[in-house]
This record gives sequence, structure tokens and C-alpha cells, in this order.
Amino acid sequence: MLKLTQALFCAAAVSLTSFGYAADPVIIKFAHVVADSTPKGQGALMFQKLVEADDKLKGKVKVEVYPNSSLFGDGKEMEALLLGDVQMLAPSLAKFEHYNKQVQIFDLPFLFDNLAAVDRFQQGPKGKALLTSMEDKGIRGLAYWHNGLKQLSANKKILLPKDARGLKFRVQASSVLEEQFKAVRANPRKMSFAEVYQGLQTGTVNGTENTWSNYESQKVNEVQPFFTETDHGLIDYMVITNAKFWNGLPEDVRTELQGIMDKVTVEVNKQAEALNQASRQKIIDAKTSEVDALTPEQRDEWRKAMRPVWDKFEGQIGADLIKAAQDANTAS
Ligand code: LMR
Repeated sequence: MLKLTQALFCAAAVSLTSFGYAADPVIIKFAHVVADSTPKGQGALMFQKLVEADDKLKGKVKVEVYPNSSLFGDGKEMEALLLGDVQMLAPSLAKFEHYNKQVQIFDLPFLFDNLAAVDRFQQGPKGKALLTSMEDKGIRGLAYWHNGLKQLSANKKILLPKDARGLKFRVQASSVLEEQFKAVRANPRKMSFAEVYQGLQTGTVNGTENTWSNYESQKVNEVQPFFTETDHGLIDYMVITNAKFWNGLPEDVRTELQGIMDKVTVEVNKQAEALNQASRQKIIDAKTSEVDALTPEQRDEWRKAMRPVWDKFEGQIGADLIKAAQDANTAS
């Protein structure tokens, strides 16, 4: 009798193990390089929360968020995604040139007039096609998230392109952004996001470009006495996942996750501008730095100086794609 009970117990344990395995939740590690308070940081947390509260996904999917390069930083995160060490990322659109050169379009200086134009392009057929354009490289895009328009910062007051001459500027890993600073005869230096504060503090670089939320959350104003409101370019994100992982999910789970991602995207894109404006105000209130606006004429000088960059990359990006982005500046 004891033997029979033991045998039954063992059989039950074995089947429990195999069922247990099947019932383990899928873990989605979502890593990123910025602070929780930024548009991307907020989006990742919102995604985690909505997945957790979703009845259809209960016990099936668990999202873990790793902000501030705490799991993987720039330079390592894409590789980690392809190896399956992390399942979701939202790199800035400046960080995709090794996977699809067309994505470089988002780095062209003075391309989009405002975030509404960016929306029209991203949600149009050509923008949407970019999301699925890297499947053969193992990357599947799920959404575009806004951060916002970029401003300049430096250790001196910069109002005209000639003021930037000879200064060393930190850039993201983007050939377009390197050329953009070369166009004003400054010296670009690629550097990971996690190194920016120290790079500015030690003088490895003298200035940089970023959004207000990234500046404020990294306390860049402690090490940069001047900001210039240029709105000269864009920092937006593509939320991506490992294509094999995504396609391997049960269809109902995948559909539910995409639905949640779509909801989060609407919210992130609605809130991004307000978060940036609040960060701008915090920097002004901190009184660490001067924030200079440009006159339309001054801004035009920057536009003229940086515009030749477009021609350098038109061959890689495609004239048709650039035209579609320009058309998005006019609401139809
Ligand atoms: C940067 O490196 O400056 C940005 O891409 C960081 C980010 O993810 O917003």
C-alpha cells in the first residue's frame, strides 16, 4: 500500500513538474537606459502594470522593468535582445543604423516641425513599414514612443552655429548625428547614455544634445551652464522585441500584449510633451544654468548649416521616405 502511494505520489510529482513547466509565466524583461520619470521610463512601467492587471494574461506573462542601464546599457542591449537575454527594449531611433539604414531618417536635423508631424509620419504606411523591416535581423518593432525634440547644452552660450565651432559634443551612436555636428565644425564624440554626466563633468565633452526630460533626470544641468532651445531634432523610440520570441508566443497572448502596447503608446505619446515641459521648468527653477531661446533668424542659421547632412544620407535613407516625412509637416 505504501509502495502504491509512493508510486502515485511520484507520478503526480512528475506530471506536476511537466505541467508546472508549461504553466510558468513567460518573463518579459524590459530594459532601458533612462530614468523611470521620463516618457520611456513611464511607458515601460505602464506596460508592466497593465499586463499585471490583465485577466487574460494572469499567471501567463510577467514583465520586469530594468531602467537606467541596470540590466544592459547602450552597445550591449541589442545584442542581448538577439541572444534572448532580454525580451523588450525601446532604443532611441538613433541606435538602429546597423539594422536598417532607413531608420536614420529620424536623425535628420530640422526634418519634423513638431511631434504632430512625427505622429503623422510614424502612423502612416511608410512609418509603419519600418516597424516590421528588421524581422530578417531578428528584431520586431511593436510601437513608436515619443520622447521629444532635442535642445543643445554646452559649457558656453551658443546662439549661432559658429558658437559651437571646435566644441566637443557627445552624440548617440549615429552617423547622421556625427555629421550634423561636423556640419557646424564641432567635434562629435559617440558615447553611451550612462556616461554622459561624467563625460560632461570631466570635460571629455563640452556639450551635448538631448530632450529636457533626459537632461533633468540625469542632472545634466549640474554640469552644463547653458542650454539653447533649438528643437533641431528628435529623440523618439522604437519599442522592439526579439522576433523569434514574439512569434513563438501563443497567438492569444501575443494579441493581448499588442493591445496593451497600443494603449500604452497612446498614453506615452500624449504625455511626453508635458513631461518635457515640466523638466524644462525644473531646470529653470534650479537656477544652475541659463536657458536661451533662439530668434527665428538664429534658428534659420542652424537649419541652413545642418541641412547639407540630408544630402549625405539621402542615398541610404531614400528620397521617397524623406519626402513622406516632409509631407507629414503639412496636416492633410
Ligand atoms: C541618448 O542616448 O541620449 C538617448 O537615446 C537616451 C534615451 O534612451 O532616451
